[in-house]
Amino acid sequence: MLTAAENKTLTETGAETPMGAVFRRYWTPALLSRELPVPNSGPLRLKLLGEDFIAFRDSDGEVGIVDARCPHRGANLFFGRNEDCGLRCVYHGWKFDVHGQCIDIPNASHAVAERLKPNAQIRALQVSEWGDVIWAYMGEGEPPKLPQFEFAKVPPSHRFVSKKFQQCNWAQACEGGLDTAHFSFLHAGINDGEKVGLHQVGLSSEDIAGQNEPTRLARFRWMIEDGEPSFTVLDHAAGMLLCAAREADNDDVYYRMTQFLMPNHSLAPGNFPEDNNLGNTWVPIDDTSCWIFCYCWNPDRPLTERECHQLSSGSGIFAEVDEHYVPLRQRGNDYLIDREAQRTSSYTGIRGISEQDAAIADSQGLIADRTKEMLVQTDLGVVRFRQTMFDATAAVASGSEPLGVEHPDAYFVRSGDAVAAPESAVEDVVSARFGQMGGHPL
Ligand code: FES
Ligand SMILES: [Fe+2]
Repeated sequence: MLTAAENKTLTETGAETPMGAVFRRYWTPALLSRELPVPNSGPLRLKLLGEDFIAFRDSDGEVGIVDARCPHRGANLFFGRNEDCGLRCVYHGWKFDVHGQCIDIPNASHAVAERLKPNAQIRALQVSEWGDVIWAYMGEGEPPKLPQFEFAKVPPSHRFVSKKFQQCNWAQACEGGLDTAHFSFLHAGINDGEKVGLHQVGLSSEDIAGQNEPTRLARFRWMIEDGEPSFTVLDHAAGMLLCAAREADNDDVYYRMTQFLMPNHSLAPGNFPEDNNLGNTWVPIDDTSCWIFCYCWNPDRPLTERECHQLSSGSGIFAEVDEHYVPLRQRGNDYLIDREAQRTSSYTGIRGISEQDAAIADSQGLIADRTKEMLVQTDLGVVRFRQTMFDATAAVASGSEPLGVEHPDAYFVRSGDAVAAPESAVEDVVSARFGQMGGHPL
């Protein structure tokens, strides 16, 4: 439970807020590269942390993210012409390059234009394109090195990235990604009125009893059977590894290990070695909406056409979205909840893991009220996330860098699952599963 003031600090990321100052110390995903597909393609409106920008790709292929307002008389540059290495305001023709320099003022004499140009410079963010994502740095001065995420370092054929819109505050959506205890309920199936693993929906009890269950399926049953995982949190130089342990078969322990990376990224569990890896970034648009960037990658092989097709049409953390990346099943249509399915096959009656997560985060309100919570042991990950974010506001207020900014290489980590003997120490399970990629110690 937080005080009202703490809740405000956690959730508000506008320009003059403590958490806004934290976010502005890090690179943030701003757009997918494919949203600006070719040189001189149409400029886009872009709102980040409550601030309005226009993004465009110039004739040389360079991306600019600039102030939306033309300094002449305030026309919006969204309507601008993207031409010959610059964005030209269509009201009276003033033109700006990707760095925000005013490079033409055609409605004034040469002498006046030359005098005005330096003062007509508009704000331009530092931009870097990496891993099929356009990253922006909204802070002052020299940005840090980009966070060295594995998805961005593998060859392009080994990854698929996308995004989805969500109509609620970034922090509660992010908490949903860190609260892996909810899988035992929210993402369960139903069979004969009983909660079952997703792989057991539609099977008869004899089928279930005789099922030859490999570990990658049995884990869905373990999650249903043990709704009270015990959490261990291991801190590292860019965030923390949240290890949720559940009872498996024969006294073994099933670990689902999630990375939280400052200030708004997570790498999801649910994969064994050789499986695809998954990650998210929750990017505040303003205080009541966010973009959730989604990454899938395989370090060892290209993703198949079938996998890419599945991900782009909605699967796991990837939602089924329209051409504007708005989920088809969303707040406005109650996620197309199907009450009959809720009785017979699905715990929620909502199709899609991503959509189930979105429904429940949205349902907490546009900004979740954390002054009225009753937290239990399995909320440890959520509690530690909040503490880490508050530590970051304190660091910035005292003039130091928040966690991770000075350790871009510590973002080169993985998340995933493991099955271990009951006597194993968590640290040993982590190093056996990930080696150095479990997290660089502080
Ligand atoms: S308002 Fe943009 S050129 Fe006049
Ligand atoms: Fe979930």
